Amino acid sequence: MTERVLTGDRVTGKLHLGHYAGSLKNRVILQDQYETFVLLADIQALTTHFEQPDFIRRHLREVALDYLSVGIDPMRSTIFVQSMIPEIAELTVLYSMFVTVNVLRHNPTVKSESKSGGLDDMYYGFLGYPVSQAADITFCKATIVPVGDDQLPHLELTRKIVRRFNELYKPILLEPKPLVGDMPRLVGTDGQAKMSKSLGNAIMLDSSTEELTLKIKRAVTDPARIHKNDPGHPDVCPIYAYHQAFRPEGAEEIREGCEKAAMGCSACKGFIIEALEQLLEPMRERRSYYAARPDTVDDILMSGTERARGIARETMKEVREAMCLDYFG
Ligand code: TRP
Repeated sequence: MTERVLTGDRVTGKLHLGHYAGSLKNRVILQDQYETFVLLADIQALTTHFEQPDFIRRHLREVALDYLSVGIDPMRSTIFVQSMIPEIAELTVLYSMFVTVNVLRHNPTVKSESKSGGLDDMYYGFLGYPVSQAADITFCKATIVPVGDDQLPHLELTRKIVRRFNELYKPILLEPKPLVGDMPRLVGTDGQAKMSKSLGNAIMLDSSTEELTLKIKRAVTDPARIHKNDPGHPDVCPIYAYHQAFRPEGAEEIREGCEKAAMGCSACKGFIIEALEQLLEPMRERRSYYAARPDTVDDILMSGTERARGIARETMKEVREAMCLDYFG
């Protein structure tokens, strides 16, 4: 049996270059080797955005367009909607019997995401979203999960849940491994924090040439390099991080030019704009193809969801049997 890949995103915003470098790029490669499932996590989006259901509804389509535009191919990958797989909710309830509140409260990603809302008074659904994420991964018995490194604690929990379930009931679930992109988390154009739409430091995958150019031109560089003949420090410069991520073959030359003050920031920025244009242009083309065909996109999501549902039903049958919940045969 070929191994399965599962991954997905909360549908709380369009995706950006950080998502691409951290995980989308891997997904596009993996779909040729494995049976790939890509989840539009609308229920997980509700854990933070339950007051804005139509915001989530809108973004579900936007993220689907992001997937199609980067080259996730509906012929090779199953793209599906989380809320339309009720078995994920069922599994979440069953797993929650043997996951303690303390383990969830100590999950570093839950902790850092809860900072604004406060660690002491989290919503029950939000606190438990890593359990729901374990259900996302295990309903289809995925063994490979390409994600950014912030997701590693959730993968660890999933592995624990699988081991616990298998020893308590019956060994039917599979332990997944994370697959993290080979670059550190991409920094935003402010050079201050990881790229994030809500911080306003992100370059979105659907950026036009003008938007891309402006974002790069306005991006922070080494603050110690005030004049062109001041030597620069590429390791503190977000533009250099973009060279490493998207133009690795030229990065060494950029480093030298910067450190020796032989190349100015605007020339350096020119090279990365050109490289990113080459990356984004085919994405723009695919996006406009699908954006002009909303019915095709709906068909892709409906048939992907139908497929995922079939697999979820099979797993649920096994789980009910293992947990003695198959009362009438
Ligand atoms: N937590 C992920 C994010 O914030 C989204 C997600 C939901 C996910 N379920 C998943 C990722 C299962 C990998 C596997 O983007």
